[in-house]
Amino acid sequence: MQSITYTASSPGKLILCGEHAVVYGRPAIALPLRDLRATVAVMPAPSPGIHFAALDLSDKWRLDQRPDDSLSLLVGETLRYLNAQPNLALMIRITSVIPIASGMGSGAAVATALVRALAAFFTADLSAATISELVYQNERRLHGTPSGIDNTVVAFEQPIWFERKNQTHTPHPSSLTPSMEPITIAAPFTLLIADTGVRSATKLPVGDLRRRWQADTPRYEALFDQIGGVAHAVRAALAEGNMPELGRLLDQNHVLLCELGVSSTELDTLVAAAKHAGALGAKLSGAGWGGVMLALVDPGDATRVAASLRTAGAASVLETMVTAAEISANRL
Ligand code: PMV
Repeated sequence: MQSITYTASSPGKLILCGEHAVVYGRPAIALPLRDLRATVAVMPAPSPGIHFAALDLSDKWRLDQRPDDSLSLLVGETLRYLNAQPNLALMIRITSVIPIASGMGSGAAVATALVRALAAFFTADLSAATISELVYQNERRLHGTPSGIDNTVVAFEQPIWFERKNQTHTPHPSSLTPSMEPITIAAPFTLLIADTGVRSATKLPVGDLRRRWQADTPRYEALFDQIGGVAHAVRAALAEGNMPELGRLLDQNHVLLCELGVSSTELDTLVAAAKHAGALGAKLSGAGWGGVMLALVDPGDATRVAASLRTAGAASVLETMVTAAEISANRL
């Protein structure tokens, strides 16, 4: 066993368009947030067992004390994948600056950094696809029926077009196979990400929507089709660098998400404030009912729109520059 510390970090993420419909086989676009990261350090522990320390949460536990915790299960699966001995003395330290349960991929980022740090500790070279698959199993334990978009964008760390493809006319989410493609971003653009400050676990709106989809499948399938159409148009607007068109499409996506029943008063208030202050487009991002919204702005308008978002109740506002290669986020 190694005697030094191995550290890995992974980014948060933002869904640009297509959330929820992506669970039902329609495409979505997601972006990694390079500067908002979760970091995991793995090192030998002085006493037997696998010890966790979530430093931001002031929480410490040993794996055998919480065997059903999702991170405990992820560590078990990763160690089995790596053929590591089960009776180790390991310390796993977790830190993250990604807000929890806010639609910015905190869970996937922690899990991805954890798998990467364990792999580094055991000098294993895991591909992004393998890491993504291990993290997907973790997301399934947390959310029930995740599309896989979060683990994919976080593991591959690049803007992606993501789709669960298939097969049957009205696909059941579990029958679909994930596929990912890099996307073309012709011109850099600026997004503001405003947090409502309302925490909402992904599985709640996802589960609620599932029940409504079961009760009235044609209505929701039609909405999912429209959201899929928006995603195709967003991809074309990104490839052309057509920002007014991108803004219009983000607005349209928000209206459709409202019709799906996953927005909230706080999200709608921030979307309206951003538009009123001159944003080119705005929508909720992620699972909804809380968490964050995004606004597309001309760079020169960012400060003014951010101030309006704060006045309208945003708990925090980040400015994000999206380019083909990388996405950085700064707190305003
Ligand atoms: O993890 P969140 O809160 O950003 O939501 C993920 C996006 C959903 O489409 C709502 C769910 C999924 O698994 O794709």
